[in-house]
Amino acid sequence: MPSYAIIGGSRGIGLEFVRQLALNEENTVFVTVRNKDKSTHLRATVAQLPHKNVRILQADVVDKQAIKNAATELGRLSGGGLDILIYNAARLEFDNLLRGPGDYDNDEELDEEFIQSFKVNVLGPIHIVNNFLPLLRKGSAKKIIILGSEGGERSFVQHVHISGLGAYGVTKAAEHMVATKYAVALENEGFTVVSVSPGFVDVSGTNSEPLSEGDASKFNDLVVQHFAAFPNAGTLLTPEQAVKRLLLDINNIGPAESGTFRPYPEFDTNKR
Ligand SMILES: NC(=O)c1ccc[n+]([C@@H]2O[C@H](COP(=O)([O-])OP(=O)(O)OC[C@H]3O[C@@H](n4cnc5c(N)ncnc54)[C@H](OP(=O)(O)O)[C@@H]3O)[C@@H](O)[C@H]2O)c1
Repeated sequence: MPSYAIIGGSRGIGLEFVRQLALNEENTVFVTVRNKDKSTHLRATVAQLPHKNVRILQADVVDKQAIKNAATELGRLSGGGLDILIYNAARLEFDNLLRGPGDYDNDEELDEEFIQSFKVNVLGPIHIVNNFLPLLRKGSAKKIIILGSEGGERSFVQHVHISGLGAYGVTKAAEHMVATKYAVALENEGFTVVSVSPGFVDVSGTNSEPLSEGDASKFNDLVVQHFAAFPNAGTLLTPEQAVKRLLLDINNIGPAESGTFRPYPEFDTNKR
């Protein structure tokens, strides 16, 4: 009876992890959200699931006490163990997401966005892993999966010519290193720690609020630029397609893959 914790599963890809995993009655799915009351997409999805195997916990990943409380609560509910942890949360605030390091109106705004992104995308997984590790040590799978992005990989950024996505790309690069550090630290305990990319996924169906016309147009430009660099890559994935592939991969990988970043195969610039 495998147990999973999805960290940051209120919407988008995290929500789809919850939905697909919960369809298997054998699984127990714990999902953390930063605000239970505002997680309307998650609550609506869980209400329609056929089994009662999802437990919703609250933890903003920048709130260390909330993380401790969520880990304690999960341990109480699970009897002390956890098999697979999936860190999905990321700072993706559209106001700043597309800006490059040179695109800010003033130094304070730049610093604020980079610091907040570092807290969610780098310190977030570190505090989560530190607090959930005692539970994972008692689990049978010993897998820690961090949702990474090609936006944090140098060869990809150069190939697609992305000068924007500054705070996101810089902190995603650091997040990949977080996975590698834990892979090394936990090597002798049989853990598998990887960062994985879902591909380019259309999560607009569960956005917290619709994009403005201007932002939608800028996002569309990014999509066009992206797929022009990978003419054979098809188009945006649905969350369902992306998570289906990721779950197969997560199921198949083991300690031999630990420490790696696993790109979406069509965007693997090392194979070009
Ligand atoms: N979509 C893509 O094409 C794509 C591509 C490559 C990698 N990824 C990665 O995939 C993961 C999911 O992305 P997505 O596209 O599904 O994004 P999304 O729809 O914007 O969802 C982001 C999730 O992160 C949560 N979150 C943000 N800040 C948080 C915080 N401080 N504490 C707890 N949760 C927090 C959000 O919760 P709230 O509802 O509370 O805001 C939401 O559940 C991210 O790690 C992203 O970098 C996505």
